[in-house]
This record gives sequence, structure tokens and C-alpha cells, in this order.
Amino acid sequence: MTFKPAKWPRKLRSQEWYGGISNHTIYHRGWLKNQGYPSDLFDGRPIIGILNTWSDLTPCNGHLRELAKKVKAGIWEAGGFPVEVPVFSASENTFRPTAMMFRNLAALSIEEQIRAQPIDGAVLLVGCDKTTPSLLMAAASTDIPSIVVTGGPMLNGYFQGEAVGAGTHLWKFSDAVKTGKMTQEEFLDAEQDVTRSSGTCNTMGTASTMASMAEALGIALSGNAAIPAVDSRRRVMAQLSGRRIVRMVKDDLKPSDIITKEAFENAIRTNGAIGGSTNAVIHLLAIAGRIGIDLSLNDWDRCGRGVATIVNLAPSGKYLMEEFFYAGGLPVVLKQLGESGLLHKDALTVSGSTIWDEVKDVINWNDDVIRPLDNALTNEGGIAVLKGNLAPKGAVLKPCAASEHLMKHRGRAVVFEDIDDYKAKINDDSLDVDETCIMVLKNCGPKGYPGMAEVGNMGLPPKVLKKGVTDMVRISDARMSGTAYGTVILHTSPEAAIGGPLAIVRNGDIIEINVDARSIHLDIDDKELKERLSAWKAPTVQPSSGYEWLHHTHVEGADTGADLDFLKGCRGAAVGKNVH
Ligand code: FES
Repeated sequence: MTFKPAKWPRKLRSQEWYGGISNHTIYHRGWLKNQGYPSDLFDGRPIIGILNTWSDLTPCNGHLRELAKKVKAGIWEAGGFPVEVPVFSASENTFRPTAMMFRNLAALSIEEQIRAQPIDGAVLLVGCDKTTPSLLMAAASTDIPSIVVTGGPMLNGYFQGEAVGAGTHLWKFSDAVKTGKMTQEEFLDAEQDVTRSSGTCNTMGTASTMASMAEALGIALSGNAAIPAVDSRRRVMAQLSGRRIVRMVKDDLKPSDIITKEAFENAIRTNGAIGGSTNAVIHLLAIAGRIGIDLSLNDWDRCGRGVATIVNLAPSGKYLMEEFFYAGGLPVVLKQLGESGLLHKDALTVSGSTIWDEVKDVINWNDDVIRPLDNALTNEGGIAVLKGNLAPKGAVLKPCAASEHLMKHRGRAVVFEDIDDYKAKINDDSLDVDETCIMVLKNCGPKGYPGMAEVGNMGLPPKVLKKGVTDMVRISDARMSGTAYGTVILHTSPEAAIGGPLAIVRNGDIIEINVDARSIHLDIDDKELKERLSAWKAPTVQPSSGYEWLHHTHVEGADTGADLDFLKGCRGAAVGKNVH
């Protein structure tokens, strides 16, 4: 850590709008004063944008306007000037075809909102899956002092006396209905139980994972990730973060000082330890691309090897985020990583202290929720990156959510050309499939779906489920919900829609995977592979909107984060021309 705080006071970018006497500063100040602000607030103090992803149609973030009030209180207390700014909110549970298609649009628009407006620092008020990475991408591109405050997870739900988690239990109940173990009425009864309170999914799904990634990267205050949405300590965290961002602006402590290569390595290892979502792979690659850090799938595999999953949370384990918080939350995990030599201890955080200083004295209050290393859930918890002739640029698998007996497997391919083909065939008892087969789903990647939907964890055929089988090997270029589980190989790159080898797999082909050896192989000879690839024809694409065209034309592969190619890199927050 070699951060040297900037001199204070100094002129901030907001003074281009509000400082001194000229036609344009009078114009800008006058307009803002119609909200009732006294003149002395325009004295050069930091103006902090609370970038709020609240929306009635992003229910996971539905409480963020309340939380913003506490952020504002903290900013006022520290001598800053808070301004709440609504930003693009891509909801996981309402956006079609998939919220992922809009992550980059959100990041693009928020980056421009920061650059075009008088903001010296930003509080990123986020929660639902895509809101956290999109705002972090925008903050990385502009590199203004920024701090993440997440909305926090929901409280535990209970159904028929048992704790149930958002997402994970819906998938389980859906399978139980298919096999007759649950009635449709019971399934309907469970509807409200799995989403009991305000907040994000309460499993270690993508929202909880990305909140943990922000904390492990050092861009959120220590302890932020696990506090439940409705706990009073969530509001305290918001207020403290408001106070802190003002000091960060004065010190000029920027994302590029914090989210370094070492910070990404800390986050990747943390993801293994918490049994985090595969979506973290794609989001961290994109954030790194925005700030100019060279991060690759090889880094994920290298750093993830040998990291044990010690957090016993669904979908890999038993508990939910509420228990994780009571056990001590992410600081306990970071402390255990540090004690095992798996943490860059001197990585800087938004607090101005190192990550190790933040966590070294915390206590684990429940060692069944956060296990000691000698009683881990699985010893190889890091994301495995498989490569071979079926995925020359890589594919990912989450070992702690997979079945041990399927980690080395050879099976006959049962192919679905796209998600509609899968839906049309999967419930048909005449489908030629059994539990030894490998289900292959094509055309669900960044360009193919479009947007790379979370459909990679294809539900098993009912006739296989009825035998009591709960897992099969599945391969696709899609993503998977962080709340899902199974031996599911995802993000296969290059994707089928641009002629990756996945496109030419046929029913009956033999595929072999070996997770230990990190291999994925289509068992046909090279000559035939080449012939099939040269005979492949690209599908005709008819985008239904201007943005869909932009996305299709410019989105990159999952192996590099699926960002738009022209948005990579840090462009800073230079102040544009003024016309007034
Ligand atoms: Fe929004 Fe899970 S759907 S956090």
C-alpha cells in the first residue's frame, strides 16, 4: 500500500459548475438553489452523487430510497453536499430477454451521468445482481472516488417449518412438482416464503456474491456484504459510508488506488471460499477491463486452485445470508484466507486502511456456518476453468455446486439447438436421454440469446428425475443463476452463435470432461471438427431495437467479460465544455 492523500483544500471538479462568479456558475447555482440550498453550501465542499438503483420494478432494491436518506445524513455530517441521482436499474427478475443484456447499457449510461454532472465522488447504492457490476464498471471507467453500499439480503424465509432461500428453493420445489413430491398448491404457498422481506436473494447467489466481491476488492466498508436489508446496522453502514466518501474525495482516494490486480486476486480467492456465483467471473473480468487491469480466465483458475469453500450457504451448503451475518460475515472469511497465506494483506480499502487491518481481529461466532479449513465444505472450491477442443477459450464450472461423481465423466451428447428447442423436448418421454448423457445447449451466449441468459442449469428430464437422479452433466454457452447448482459447465467460449465448436456438436457425439485435468473434449477427430466448422452457417440476426443491434455488434465473448468492445478502458471524468 503506497497511497499518499492529496492536499486539501483544493479545487474539485464540481467547482467548474458552482465555483466563482460568471454567467454559467450563477445559472447552475441558481437552478440548484430552487431546492432550497443556502449559498454557503457552494463553498467548494465535495458534492457526492448517491447513484441510486432504486426502482419499483427492481424489488430487490426497493428499499434503497430509505437507505439513501442515511447516506445523505453521513455526507452532511462529514461536510459534504449530497445529491441523489436515479440511475439505470437492471432488475434480474423483470428485465427481458435477460438483465445481463442491459448490464453494459447501464454501465455506459451511468458512466456518462457521472461525467456530465457536477459530482466529485459517488456512493454506489446497489443490490440486485446486475446493479453492482454495472455501477462498478462505470466507477472504474471514470475513476472518481467511489464507495459501494449494497442494500443487503432478505431475512430467511420459512416454508413448512424449514428455512428457504430465494432462487435455490424455487428450483428445488419446481423439480419436486415434476416428480410429484410437491403439489402445485404447495408450490404456490411457497411463493411468498422464499422472498420474505426487502432485500436481495438471501442465498450465496449472484447479489450476495457481488456484494462480497465489492468488500473483498476493498471498494466497500468492511462488513458491508452480509448485513440484512432490514437490520438497523444496514442503515448505520449507509451512514458511515456517507461520512467516508467525503474524506475519500478530500484525499482523492480513487478506484484505481483500490481495485488493483492484488485486489482482484483477493476477490477471486474469496469467491472460492464463499462458494460464490459463476457470474462473478464475467463481472470481475469486465470491471478489470474498465480499469485497465490485465485479468483473465487463467487468473481465475490459478488463484482459485486449492481454495476451500468454507462458507456453508445455499446453494452449495445449508444456511442463508442471515446466519452468515450472525457468524461474522465476510471479514471472518477474509481473516481465514489471510491466516492461510491466501490474501494480499496490504491491499488498500476505501477505509484508508489495509484489508488485513480491517479483519485481523474479528471473531467467528459459528464455525458450522463459516467452517475452519480442516472441516471445509469442499477442498477445491475455486472456479475451475476447463479448456479443450470444445472450449478453446475456456468454460467454467463451480466445483462446490457440482457432484463429485460427475467431475470426470464421458457421455453421449443430447443436443438442444437453443432454449426453445430445449423447452419443446425436455418433458417428452420419448426423448432419448438417461442420466449418463451430457445435455448440450447452444446459442445462449452473449450474442446468441441475446444477452447470455441464466439457462445453463437446464432442468433434468422428468423421466430421469423420477428415478431419483438429481444431477447430470450439462454444457452450454449460457450463464447460470448464482442460486442454482449442479455439474453445469457454462460460458463455453467461443459461443455457438459466432461459430465456436459448441455449434457443431451433434446428438450422439461423445464428450469427455475431467475437472481435475481442466479438460473438455469432443471426441471427434480434428479433420471432422474442421469440416463441421467450415460447413457451419451463421444464423440470421434481426435485432428488435437499436440497443440490441449495438449489443450484438459490439459485445465481446464471455471469456473476457462480455463488455462492449468500445467501452473497455478507463476514460476518466474530464469536465466537458459548458454552453451557458
Ligand atoms: Fe435481485 Fe436475486 S433477483 S437479488
